[in-house]
Amino acid sequence: MSHCAPVRVLFVCLGNICRSPLAEGVFQAAIDKQGLSDRFKIDSAGTGAWHAGQAPDRRMRKTALSHGIQLDDLRARQFTVADLGGFDHIYAMDAHNLNDMLSLDRDTAFGSRVSLFRDLDPEPGDGQVPDPYYGGTDGFEEVFRIVDRTCEALLLELAKEYAL
Ligand code: 4NP
Repeated sequence: MSHCAPVRVLFVCLGNICRSPLAEGVFQAAIDKQGLSDRFKIDSAGTGAWHAGQAPDRRMRKTALSHGIQLDDLRARQFTVADLGGFDHIYAMDAHNLNDMLSLDRDTAFGSRVSLFRDLDPEPGDGQVPDPYYGGTDGFEEVFRIVDRTCEALLLELAKEYAL
């Protein structure tokens, strides 16, 4: 089945320096570990442009690295309308990110591709990944736990959907 087109997955938050690059790094590590790297194309983006070109937030990189996930080589970019058609599954970290993306979908052609990341979380809480940017270290650890278990559930879900 290695001839199949890769499943294209995009994680989206506000700045693309905390939550979505973490999800990208954690999910990439999970598929690498399962030997599924060639079956997926993973990326992340932010609805805002303020941090475009920057590496992930130093606090997020430090927390991720303490769990064996290296984010240093990622660079922030802004989500564009072309991403709606360019990815099969687009996961928003919070409802604000979701609404911002859907507002770019003028012809409501791609709405079914966009959903809340925590819809897959076995402990979904309020369904959103809290923004850790203005908080303390605890916030980054909490975000890691949420993203880690949700990525695990997401991989199971997509493996089932695509018979991987
Ligand atoms: P992220 O966190 O959306 O998880 O990358 C944020 C990063 C930067 C800002 C907000 C949230 N900011 O306002 O600059």
